[in-house]
Amino acid sequence: MDMNLEGKRAVVTGSTKGIGLAIAQSLVAEGAKVVISSRHQDDVQDTLESLNPSARDQVSGKVCDVREANQVRDLIQHCVEIFGGIDIQVNNAGIGIFRTVEEMSLQEWRDTLTTNLDGVFYGCHFAIPEMKKNGGGFIINVGSLAGVNAFPHGAAYNASKFGLVGFSEALMQEVRYDDIRVANIMPGSVATEFSRTQDKSSWKLSASDVAEVVLETLKRHPRCLTSRIEMRPSKPLKK
Ligand SMILES: NC(=O)c1ccc[n+]([C@@H]2O[C@H](COP(=O)([O-])OP(=O)(O)OC[C@H]3O[C@@H](n4cnc5c(N)ncnc54)[C@H](OP(=O)(O)O)[C@@H]3O)[C@@H](O)[C@H]2O)c1
Repeated sequence: MDMNLEGKRAVVTGSTKGIGLAIAQSLVAEGAKVVISSRHQDDVQDTLESLNPSARDQVSGKVCDVREANQVRDLIQHCVEIFGGIDIQVNNAGIGIFRTVEEMSLQEWRDTLTTNLDGVFYGCHFAIPEMKKNGGGFIINVGSLAGVNAFPHGAAYNASKFGLVGFSEALMQEVRYDDIRVANIMPGSVATEFSRTQDKSSWKLSASDVAEVVLETLKRHPRCLTSRIEMRPSKPLKK
């Protein structure tokens, strides 16, 4: 591990809970400057207050629904305005709605695809020009093993995360010579709100496991890119 994250400027979408919150906390602990966000102002405020008081000048928050291009643009602009630029964009916000194709409403389909795929496109589209101004940066997309393994009731979620595999790979090849690295972190089951319907969770990954892998990815020497990372619980429940 070579790179120091102190002073790096980061945006994390969907960072009031779960994996996004764990990533934001880890970045703050490394001395990075972090903009946190989600769709709800109260949660953004509570999250800011929950972060280490000595780190207050390192963190800022802004409401952002990643389904709305203008809100994602404003989120990234907020980071540029208060911290002077952006070095790390973490496209984490995502939802999972698990139903048969027949039972899934048109709105649920659109919400899944817009949040999990359009939202990532917006984050990259608006962050890349700012990163180029700084001479480079890092984009972390939070994908899923559902991006390589399909399952019944998962069609919308699978479509969004399979799509993200192609998107991340294409983007990685597109911006590598601008010194922008792109990685798709693909966890299996993580114990968060998202997966609360499942039973005892001790076998699952924790959000901090994912955050640790994100930090490792960011800290690698600039010549080295782990662009697609599968991570899974070591001992899932036996079927
Ligand atoms: N948990 C798992 O087992 C698992 C496994 C693999 C991959 N993942 C992926 O990891 C990411 C985070 O999942 P998680 O388990 O941490 O979920 P979570 O605990 O439900 O947290 C999701 C976060 O995203 C925010 N969010 C949801 N929709 C949003 C939107 N349209 N715009 C902005 N923020 C939004 C939520 O806040 P608000 O609702 O207040 O906006 C919350 O802060 C997702 O991309 C998910 O697909 C999760």
